Amino acid sequence: MNAARNGSFESDFLVIGSGIAGLIFAIKAAEAGTVTVLTKAASNEANTAYAQGGIASVWSVDDSFESHVDDTLRAGAGLCNRHAVETIVRDGPEAVRELIALGTRFTRVEEGGEDEYDLGREGGHSHRRVLHAQDLTGREIMRALGEAAASRRDLRVLENKVAVNLLMEPGAHGGDGARCWGAYVLDRASGAVDKFVARATLLATGGAGKVYLYTTNPDVASGDGVAMAYRAGAPVANMEFIQFHPTCLYHPAAKSFLISEALRGEGAILRLPDGTPFMKSYHPDAELAPRDVVARAIDSEMKRHGLDYVLLDISHRPADFVRSRFPNIFNRCLSFGFDLTRTPIPVVPAAHYMCGGLMTDLNARTPLAQLYAAGETAMTGLHGANRLASNSLLEAAVMGRRAAAAAREDLAAAGERCPPDFPRWDPGRAMRSEERVLITQSWDEIRRLMWNYVGIVRSNHRLARAMRRLQLIKEEVYGYYWDHLIDSDLIELRNLVEVAELVVRSAAARKESRGLHYTVDYPERDDAHCLHDTVIAKST
Ligand code: FAD
Ligand code: SIN
Repeated sequence: MNAARNGSFESDFLVIGSGIAGLIFAIKAAEAGTVTVLTKAASNEANTAYAQGGIASVWSVDDSFESHVDDTLRAGAGLCNRHAVETIVRDGPEAVRELIALGTRFTRVEEGGEDEYDLGREGGHSHRRVLHAQDLTGREIMRALGEAAASRRDLRVLENKVAVNLLMEPGAHGGDGARCWGAYVLDRASGAVDKFVARATLLATGGAGKVYLYTTNPDVASGDGVAMAYRAGAPVANMEFIQFHPTCLYHPAAKSFLISEALRGEGAILRLPDGTPFMKSYHPDAELAPRDVVARAIDSEMKRHGLDYVLLDISHRPADFVRSRFPNIFNRCLSFGFDLTRTPIPVVPAAHYMCGGLMTDLNARTPLAQLYAAGETAMTGLHGANRLASNSLLEAAVMGRRAAAAAREDLAAAGERCPPDFPRWDPGRAMRSEERVLITQSWDEIRRLMWNYVGIVRSNHRLARAMRRLQLIKEEVYGYYWDHLIDSDLIELRNLVEVAELVVRSAAARKESRGLHYTVDYPERDDAHCLHDTVIAKST
């Protein structure tokens, strides 16, 4: 990276986000040029770091690409792009091997050979194919990638830098041919907004769980990449498909702590508070049914019986096994007074994963030149209407690598094209905000209305209500945004309201129930009219 000139930093590649997709891209791109990775908090604060279950990939000799492809297509409820599924599934083992080569230590089979890893089972998978590092897979991947990134000479990771807007060179007539040259970026410590200029920019900003009141996601997941690129004119697809994870610990201090699906993979049973199991009456695969089915079943049982939670029970498995297979979950539950090995624990669903996102091709290119997107922020066509468990780390790893290859190729082909002289960030007449309550109130309202009106079960009436409220909040947030000096809370609030609106618009446009989108007004799947992605671009 070149030193700052007039609040402007330059590198060949700019990466926004330091999760698995961003770091893999950065490590590969650093072989061909200078790389700057920006991350809005500490570098290891990302959805990736919280992943428990693991990364799905065909690994055992009993498994096959065809089987992984079929399972993914089945979960995706008719909306997956078969070519994307085949490509990503087939690239999986190589991407996993690269993670291992970069230092990731997945859990091995005891006394197994060099290539023998313990394979977990999760809902919707017909084979054991989930490589994991006990129940702290994401943390281990972040450790390995963080160390690998730190050892690359031409790669810098800058923390507490919040990308605000993309630096866009308009196309010939303001439309086609628009080109991205990096981003305006807020330094959280100084409050200054600098320009980070690059010839290739990757958005790897992760998901948008914070749009909902209850979520498994950390605070950084506010959909910034989707909002920024949408504002710049990139099309966004399938935002109605928000995945709710069926099982988070129900405890006021646990902040929706995830209880991995891998527990159900190892035999955990969902029960009503009186001990009655209920999943068999919803799906022949019971606890191992696809996630949308399990989340809806829990939601329906909670509503039917007026419950605050249901129970998850793995106490019938040997205590030693539970403690050694799930040490993190066991200890966290114990810290809240629940001993997994002895009693069932209370669980509820929470927003978990954004299946939609920025539309990209299979080389992570968006329709905006020099702008790439990978990981949870992108929509490749892999997940369709419902993501198969542990397919997201797979997608992020594969697409991070593919994005780097494409960006390197594009950079080499572009020659010495120069960026325009973008103006410095102009705060105008903006004042420092004294009234934080205006931000916290809108933040809370958005998340609560999304939970209540745009949750696991939807209706026309609730969606229309959500839209009316969001329009009002959006007006207020925009007014506030331009009148005040920006900080990370305000940036996230603007992004949150825009992403929430995209989710509601997409949900309202889908007049059927499919995968993760269930509405009481159109309870059936309608292949004749609705077998297509929901695409929204700024002008539509
Ligand atoms: P992330 O890892 O979320 O990284 C996003 C990065 O972008 C962060 O560094 C963030 O700070 C940064 N960022 C965001 N906005 C800005 C901005 N404006 N400026 C600068 N930086 C920004 N998937 C699986 O496949 N298997 C699992 O077992 C699994 N378990 C999960 C458990 C939990 C609790 C959660 C929350 C998710 C889980 N997932 C799992 C999903 C998976 O972890 C994520 O989809 C995946 O890690 C996303 O990776 P990513 O690189 O796209 O984004
Ligand atoms: C889990 O461990 O249950 C999460 C897996 C995933 O989100 O893919």
